[in-house]
Formats: sequence, structure tokens, C-alpha cells
Amino acid sequence: MFSYLKNNKERQLNELIELLKIPSVSTDVNHNDDLVRAANYLINQLDDLGFATELRATAGHPIVLANYIVDKSLPTVLIYGHYDVQPVDPISEWSNPPFEPTIKDGKIFARGSSDDKGQIFAHIKAVEALIKTTDTLPVNVKFLIEGEEEIGSPNLGPFLIQEKENLACELVLISDSAMIAPDTPTITYGLKGLAYIELEVIAANRDLHSGAYGGGVPNPINVLAKMIASLHDENGKITVPGFYDDVIEISVQEKAAFEKVPFDEKEFAEEIALKGTPGEAGYTVLERIWARPTLDVNGIKGGFQGEGAKTVIASKASAKISCRLVSNQDPKDITKKLIKHLEDIAPSYVSIKAIDLHGAKTALSPLDSKAVKLTAKALEKAFGKEVIFARTGGSIPIVNNFQEELGVDVVLVGFGLENDGAHSPNEKFELSNYYSAINASTEILTELAKF
Ligand code: BES
Ligand code: MN
Ligand code: MN
Repeated sequence: MFSYLKNNKERQLNELIELLKIPSVSTDVNHNDDLVRAANYLINQLDDLGFATELRATAGHPIVLANYIVDKSLPTVLIYGHYDVQPVDPISEWSNPPFEPTIKDGKIFARGSSDDKGQIFAHIKAVEALIKTTDTLPVNVKFLIEGEEEIGSPNLGPFLIQEKENLACELVLISDSAMIAPDTPTITYGLKGLAYIELEVIAANRDLHSGAYGGGVPNPINVLAKMIASLHDENGKITVPGFYDDVIEISVQEKAAFEKVPFDEKEFAEEIALKGTPGEAGYTVLERIWARPTLDVNGIKGGFQGEGAKTVIASKASAKISCRLVSNQDPKDITKKLIKHLEDIAPSYVSIKAIDLHGAKTALSPLDSKAVKLTAKALEKAFGKEVIFARTGGSIPIVNNFQEELGVDVVLVGFGLENDGAHSPNEKFELSNYYSAINASTEILTELAKF
């Protein structure tokens, strides 16, 4: 194994580069063909390794399914990931074009390099290494790689139910998160949920001269800003009635465990050139990110956006607002409460429209499952270091479905780093992480044979 990985480094990297060149941006209909190309690239890779592959059409982007059944008596590991990527904007901030992978200082820069192409591809390369060196696999392996994770996995939930038998497995392995620190093997046991809406505030029937009308008419941008500002109180608490009803408080034990995690608030702020880290009073930064619900505006639109000044009162303004949720908050319930609250606080002289964009359920995994224990053991062997158990503020919508509908354990082993710039300009993946992920995956699959 050691020499196989050593001798095939360059090719295994070049094959990732080919995948990274495909601009599979799932939100953008102009890229629909690129999603199909990316999916087919994975199909071909898995075909060549002897997997039984299927490209399954959905109402949206296709799903890659691939099975390698060694023996019915062996445990089956389902490896999930996504080949779609986030949009690249702001494009002007990229040092190199996002779909022309560039290697610099031991990192590969490209959209999707860390989230999630690099991480899912590492598992494919690990499986390749196992098959090429042993002619088989230590467990049955199924790949389920979707193209709609970044838009909330709208078609994968129903697919899971419909294909329950086909997807039967003992556990789901996912690498779509981060290590807590370089070379520190990390198992993520908590994901946040998400409720995401778009709010529009409408006043007059057209844009108006801000002198001829200003002072006599409502300004929807001012109104929107005031509404948004009122969504947090002076203690950083969210003011939507009932918002905290189903929140499970962080236990004393868990708080103590967070304290032991290698995370430094000062370093955290410095790394992103921040002057302070305000938030919900009474909680540490890590507690807020990992285990407290949040509300943030992700984008805001309205009025004159061009260079220079234009004296105008816009007719409408809008904002994209998301809430990150924790157990047992339900995204549908929170969306309803948020929209109702916005309707209640909107002044009568404007009208508002609120639409539900998407959501994700929260997911928490037990730390003492067999799946977690075996994976942790393999990671400790691969990295020669103790595993850190972390939560994250991110969401992976389908994880809850795996737990609830397939009734199986999910193990999240992140090989990215928090500073990889997922969703940001200049996203990168450390080459050392790519190679250690491949190696670790071979160890994990080998250890999981004991399941
Ligand atoms: N890989 C991320 C989830 C993630 C982020 C895990 C950070 C760990 C740390 C995933 O691709 C993602 O971005 N998910 C979206 C989900 C949403 C679009 C429904 C997210 O969290 O914003
Ligand atoms: Mn991801
Ligand atoms: Mn993502």
C-alpha cells in the first residue's frame, strides 16, 4: 500500500485536477451540462475500478451510484459526497481562475477543491489503491455522490426512500467537513440545520426622485434595514417568538468537552483579521458556532448599486436570511415562525413577500457507536494522533435522512481545514490533506471490516 500510494501520487493528483476543471455549479442552470460531465467523470473512474455504476437522473442534477459487492457477509459502507460546487462570486477576488486548478505552496486552489470534490475523490483513490494492491476490498463499498448538496439536496431525500434496498448498508461514511487543526484527525458528530428565506419589502410602484418624494414616502431599504436590525436584541438573542422553544441547551459535559478542543478565540479572530467576536451573550465563540442557533443576512439588494451617487428612493428591497439550527429545532417550524414574525413587524405602509428557499434538519451522532469507534481507531493509526470530536456550524441536509430513514450510523470524517475557504474566493485543499485522506480512507475501510 505504502509504495502504491507513493508511486501513484502524481496521477492521483492529476485525476483530481481533471474533476476540478469542471465548473459544476449547481445553482446556475447555465452549468447543467457541467454537472452531467462531472457526474460522468466519477462514473468512469468507478467503472474502471470494477464498480457496478449507474447515473440516475432526477428532477435536478443526476446522482452517481456505484456498488462494489465483495461478499454479502461483509459489512457494507456507503460513502456519500457531492460533486456540485458553490458559485465563484466575487470572481475578481480570485488570484487564479476558479476552474483552472493551480498548485502553489503545497495547496491546490480551485472551487470545490476542499468542498467537496477533493474529499470525495480521496475515497475513490483509496478504494483504487485497495483494489490495485489486494485485488479486492475489505468491505462492500457503495458510493452515493450527488450534485445538489449546495442547493439543499431537494431530490436526494425522496431518492433515499425509493432506493432504500439498493442503498442498504451498515453505516454511512462522509468526508465533507474539516479537521479541527492540521494533521489532527477529527470526527464531526454534530451538524446544524438550516432555514433559509428570502424577504422582499415593497413600497411605491416605481423608483422615485429622492428629493421630490423623500420625506413624504416610505423607503423600503430603510424599512428592511430596521426590520433586520430588530431580529436580534441587545444580548444577541433572536427575537422571533418561539425561536428557542425546541433548542436543547448545551450540557455541562459537552461544554467541558468543548473547552478541551484546540480552539483559540484570539487566533480565530486574527486569522480573519477581525477586531472582535460579538454574539449571543453567555456563550463562547465555539459554543455559538457549534451548538447555538443563529440568524444571519446572507445578501441584501435594493436601490442604486452602480458607481457614484444617484438620488433615488427604490420601490423595493430584499434580503436573504438564514437561520442555522440546533436540535430539536425543525426547519419548517422555524421558517413559519420567522415569516409570521416578519409579517407582524412590517409596517402597514409596505407590503412584504417572503419565500422559503430551502432547509436542512439538524444531525447529531452518538459518540459511542461501533462505527465511530472503529473509524476513530483507524484514524489514530493513520495519523498517529488522538481523534478530536467536533461539532460544526455547517449543514449537510441528507445526514438526518440517513439516520432517520435508513436507520444507520453516520460517521463524518473531515479532511478539509476550516481555512480552506469553502464557499469563498481562492478555495484550496492542502495536498498533504489529500494524500493523508487517501491513506486514512484505506485504514478506515480496512478497520470497518470488523463491523
Ligand atoms: N461541506 C459543507 C457543510 C459543512 C460546512 C460541514 C462547514 C462542516 C463545516 C456543505 O457543502 C455545505 O456547504 N452545506 C450547506 C448546506 C446548505 C446549502 C443546505 C451549508 O452548510 O451552507
Ligand atoms: Mn460540502
Ligand atoms: Mn458547501
